[in-house]
Amino acid sequence: MITPHGGTLVQRVLHGERREEWLEKAKQFPSLTVSEVTRSDLVCLATGIFSPLTGFMKEEDYISVRDQMRLADGTVWSIPVTLPVPEELEETVRRAAYLALRDPNGMILAVVQIESVYRVDVEEEAKKVFGTNDVNHPGVARLVNQSSLYVGGDIWLLNRPDFGVFASHYYEPAETRKIFADRGWRRIVGFQTRNPVHRAHEYIQKSALETVDGLFLHPLVGATKADDIPADVRLKSYEVILKEYYPTERVFLGVFPAAMRYAGPREAIFHAIARKNYGCTHFIVGRDHAGVGNYYGTYDAQKIFEQFTAEELGITPLFFEHSFYCRRCAGMASYKTCPHPSEYHVILSGTKVRQMLYAGEMPPPEFSRPEVVQVLIEGLRKKQTVSK
Ligand code: ADX
Repeated sequence: MITPHGGTLVQRVLHGERREEWLEKAKQFPSLTVSEVTRSDLVCLATGIFSPLTGFMKEEDYISVRDQMRLADGTVWSIPVTLPVPEELEETVRRAAYLALRDPNGMILAVVQIESVYRVDVEEEAKKVFGTNDVNHPGVARLVNQSSLYVGGDIWLLNRPDFGVFASHYYEPAETRKIFADRGWRRIVGFQTRNPVHRAHEYIQKSALETVDGLFLHPLVGATKADDIPADVRLKSYEVILKEYYPTERVFLGVFPAAMRYAGPREAIFHAIARKNYGCTHFIVGRDHAGVGNYYGTYDAQKIFEQFTAEELGITPLFFEHSFYCRRCAGMASYKTCPHPSEYHVILSGTKVRQMLYAGEMPPPEFSRPEVVQVLIEGLRKKQTVSK
């Protein structure tokens, strides 16, 4: 089994008496109601998804990650994982030793030991992490709307957030590692997505699967931008496509509780490392991975891997060219394998597909499996009816 990033799978979930004890103590700590992104980060930190991180980044790690894509000790890490706290709490956090982190209902989720309190230059973070300070970029927008005062330090998780409809597909890295081993899989490819599985996704997944033992279909279900297809609607579509088009003994579906950053290349590294912690040996990086709009070049998220050695990453990226259905080839292909002109290629933009689905129109079967489309249209219709 592949070694977790940094050597050890981090476990910071408290159980039993220690949990009770800390829950009692935490009632006395100053407390903060945390955002959806921070709730995701807490789960990822506590269950080893973000190994070797044991808490929110202290200033030294933050600066090193922002500027060099490495933790202060040199370990590769590409995205800051930070805890912004409101300005009015500055005095409090500078004096207190711990902070209790609560969900919007007041439930204590975790405690953080306050080891570092620092102020950041949000513009600089945006430019370095997202490659832009344009507030139309969803990652930048999130950053500029939050406080620039950060608290760093180790966390302990006392209560898991409610995973709702995702609970049945929620597996922690320790569990997936065991599942892969029990299945006898030695080479496992991880697949990140924030979308339904379309034919191009299916094509690259299955191409990868031809050379490894198992596919870990690992859709992200943390916060996404408002116009992405909601994760609960997507979930059913994954179940349907697996049932209809994949061999069950070769594929495993789990949800990835992290929030989307839309940081393109840097997020590709981050996504790969997280999947290594789940036990994957390989990770798929296709066109414009974790991209949004036109902020990143089509293959920037592949090129960034050249900056690190195979040893320091540990997980092997599998790169795929832009794929599509070609009517002349009468099959799936990519710019690497298809000689025909674009008029034969079935390519639809994400925006176009979402518009069609919301309008109840079926994208062509060469683009997306009809069973998938049906589930998505139904799911979106139900959502619209509820919100009316
Ligand atoms: S992401 O934000 O989660 O990366 P998406 O769900 O669109 O977005 O992509 C999931 C993975 O499939 C990424 O690795 C992406 O690069 C790849 N991908 C998506 N569409 C294509 C395509 N048409 N051809 C090749 N790779 C693709």
